[in-house]
Amino acid sequence: MGDTSGTSIFSGFAIALHLGVFQNERTSFAMPHILSSFKTARLELRPPVPEDAPCIFDRYAQDPEVCRYMSWRPHTSIQDTHRFLEGCARERETGYTLSWAITLPGTPGPIGMITCRPERYKADIGYVLARAYWGNGYMSEAVHAVVDRTLADPNIFRVWAVCDVDNHGSARVLEKAGMTFEGTLHRWIMHPNVSPKPRDCHVYARVV
Ligand SMILES: CC(C)(COP(=O)(O)OP(=O)(O)OC[C@H]1O[C@@H](n2cnc3c(N)ncnc32)[C@H](O)[C@@H]1OP(=O)(O)O)[C@@H](O)C(=O)NCCC(=O)NCCS
Repeated sequence: MGDTSGTSIFSGFAIALHLGVFQNERTSFAMPHILSSFKTARLELRPPVPEDAPCIFDRYAQDPEVCRYMSWRPHTSIQDTHRFLEGCARERETGYTLSWAITLPGTPGPIGMITCRPERYKADIGYVLARAYWGNGYMSEAVHAVVDRTLADPNIFRVWAVCDVDNHGSARVLEKAGMTFEGTLHRWIMHPNVSPKPRDCHVYARVV
């Protein structure tokens, strides 16, 4: 359970309520600090901004290998990335999807992105990292932190994620973030860069 006694949390909550955040049928965070920027041992996570578009496009959004197991096609122009970031800002305002740009101190611009989609008492996450940064434990660190932070909210009891049955790196990230394999969902998700037919996915979760 998280500490709800901080003044900043309550004032943040008042601001969030004023803005209409957390007042939809899907979102029930009690602690709007979930929305803010935060640091892990090596990373800084912050809301994405429109100025991130060139970096995101160049580093990963147009890379077919990075996008292989994503639900979207590689971006073909920076306009795709601008539209994506506009969508992130809209979703953040409504509270439907919270996105954080993953940044490395000393490296300008995002190296990846992580999203959390709250739905009443549970939330699911998704993530992507630029290829040049794979294999350093960065995504395990980011996912672990977002899962911890989300589950610290007293209204959230389950954080879960799916990954394509062939996406072994992603499955390992989820295990390293303390999530448990729950089973396989058949024909669950479209990964259009792999197949035009829905794909089987493994589901992982951490519950409190
Ligand atoms: C999957 C992804 C997020 C992994 O990020 P990362 O920062 O390289 O992962 P980490 O360095 O934290 O590695 C976590 C573990 O996964 C393993 N791993 C990483 N990539 C792997 C791969 N392709 N195959 C097998 N294991 C892999 C690592 O060895 C490590 O395990 P270990 O500590 O036991 O050795 C990254 O490759 C990525 O963004 N891929 C494209 C987008 C994507 O697939 N997103 C997930 C959609 S569900």
